[in-house]
Amino acid sequence: MDGNGRWAKQRGLPRVAGHKQGVEAVRRTVRAASELGIEALTLYAFSTENWRRPEDEISDLLGLLRFFISRELDALHKAGVRILILGDLCRFPADIVADIKHAIERTAGNSKMTLAIALGYGARAEIVHAARTLAAKAVAGEIAPDQIDEVMFDAALYTHDMPPLDLLIRTSGEVRLSNFLLWQAAYAEMIFIDQFWPDFGHETLAQCLDEYARRERRYGGL
Ligand code: FPP
Repeated sequence: MDGNGRWAKQRGLPRVAGHKQGVEAVRRTVRAASELGIEALTLYAFSTENWRRPEDEISDLLGLLRFFISRELDALHKAGVRILILGDLCRFPADIVADIKHAIERTAGNSKMTLAIALGYGARAEIVHAARTLAAKAVAGEIAPDQIDEVMFDAALYTHDMPPLDLLIRTSGEVRLSNFLLWQAAYAEMIFIDQFWPDFGHETLAQCLDEYARRERRYGGL
């Protein structure tokens, strides 16, 4: 969800105004994804690297996250959306962690769509976390090192409960993954668009899905 800051700058507004519009784009996109029959949508909301931003901006982002959960939870639940978090919440304020836990528990039985929010997420940290989990199991004698294969590793990632990643979209003209879903993106299709995140919504998502449908996926075969 890149480009909130530049969207605001183009309009002579403070960065937080871009993030606020970013939340509106989140609402539109979650609704659009559900309407378009998407099984699982992951949004990269806060990376491990985002902790390096100025305190004011971090506080604005955390405020918006609180606001989003409190305002949207009922509607998401009614729409059959299951909420998941990918990432390490240990640096997040206790009230947000409690709100998130509540949202996960309340929506756990829903099956229309999974909304995974990557928070305190970094793909390298995720891979290290999975390696540690498996190493601890090996030390405890629960598994043998040579039993570890791609399926077992996949199951130790934050995304273990989600379908394989088919399509990855990055907004704002940047053409890199920036530590997002590195393992999961191995065979994902990627679309990079110039539009800033606050302008994203049903129309752009539908266009991306059309482009995805035109791609031929061979997974290394012929
Ligand atoms: C990237 O734009 C955006 C972020 C770091 C934050 C994304 C967060 C939200 C949209 C709001 C909270 C999320 C949810 C799920 C409610 P940038 O600030 O890097 O923009 P720039 O590259 O133009 O400076």
